[in-house]
Amino acid sequence: MGNALRQYRLSRQVAASSEQPPESGPDTIVGTSPAIVEVLKTIGRVADSGACVLITGESGTGKEVIARALHRHSGRSGPFLAINCSAIVETLLESELFGHEKGAFTGADARKAGKFEITSDGTLFLDEIGELQPTLQAKLLRVLQEGSYTRVGGSQELHSNARIIAATHRDLQAMVREGSFREDLYYRLNVIRMHLPPLRERPQDLAALVEHLLGRIEKRLHRTAVRLSETAWRLIREYPWPGNVRELENILTRAAVLAPGDTLTPDLLGLSTPSAAASDDPSQPELELITLETLEARHVGAILEHTHWHKGKTCEILGISRPALDRKIAKYGIA
Ligand SMILES: Nc1ncnc2c1ncn2[C@@H]1O[C@H](COP(=O)(O)OP(=O)(O)OP(=O)(O)O)[C@@H](O)[C@H]1O
Ligand SMILES: [Mg+2]
Repeated sequence: MGNALRQYRLSRQVAASSEQPPESGPDTIVGTSPAIVEVLKTIGRVADSGACVLITGESGTGKEVIARALHRHSGRSGPFLAINCSAIVETLLESELFGHEKGAFTGADARKAGKFEITSDGTLFLDEIGELQPTLQAKLLRVLQEGSYTRVGGSQELHSNARIIAATHRDLQAMVREGSFREDLYYRLNVIRMHLPPLRERPQDLAALVEHLLGRIEKRLHRTAVRLSETAWRLIREYPWPGNVRELENILTRAAVLAPGDTLTPDLLGLSTPSAAASDDPSQPELELITLETLEARHVGAILEHTHWHKGKTCEILGISRPALDRKIAKYGIA
């Protein structure tokens, strides 16, 4: 038996023998496509190694599920914490990651432990790593190289053994070439690489995913026997799923909530082709009596959503600078 196959079986055994019900955990990975099989094999091989893992893939493809599975099979005693590097302003992110001393900045009225401290025996999942700003890239590199860091406003050297898993939907190698991501940090993070192809490129995973997600939805909604009609299933197979598994989950959940019975019919899925959507409602939108600020907050939020929190693209579309965007996000509390 080849080593790869043995590892794959091992990872399946690990999944089957864990205390958690295998069908419903936040780290349950389903699918039989070559990409998913490869991911399972890699988890079996590297989970307990402590090596950095870089997970790439479009939004909603399952990057966090993989990170959680790696942590669960790592045998590490500490917690799993996730932090989205693009969701908060840089200064706040620095203190979230490394902690701060009392008085480090206005409002820092007590010392606070950072994520590196809290996950010292656990796993730190750095989501959207491609959005990390240069100063934090340098600080992260230092923890990865030397295991040491200091709290914001502090001078004491602290040590962290946190296992780092990073994820991004961006092409980090291209960012290295452009000079917006440090090459040395890229190599430190890219020790083990896992890639999740978009859902439209692995249609063989659809059936298992639908079954898995419907099971979760049943539990959440206290329902039984929620199922798809034949035409709904055909529609699901034809749809390209730009938002990947997350979109599939959202659409199934909404359909289950709206369904009068247990069968999900195509109309409940609300999946339309672009041409059908365009001819949907030709009537004028109603005028909303709202302030410019509200309008701005909504528009900034909508564009961030559209770009999947890609701040560079968002700035380009909005025609504003990066600091201006960060100020608006903080001002309006967009999350
Ligand atoms: N292979 C899979 N097996 C089971 N569930 C999955 C799988 N892939 C994704 N999911 C589910 O789909 C949802 C989205 O997955 P996840 O949050 O891991 O994606 P992501 O790549 O981190 O997305 P985003 O870029 O939007 O943060 C989750 O509810 C997750 O449980
Ligand atoms: Mg994610």
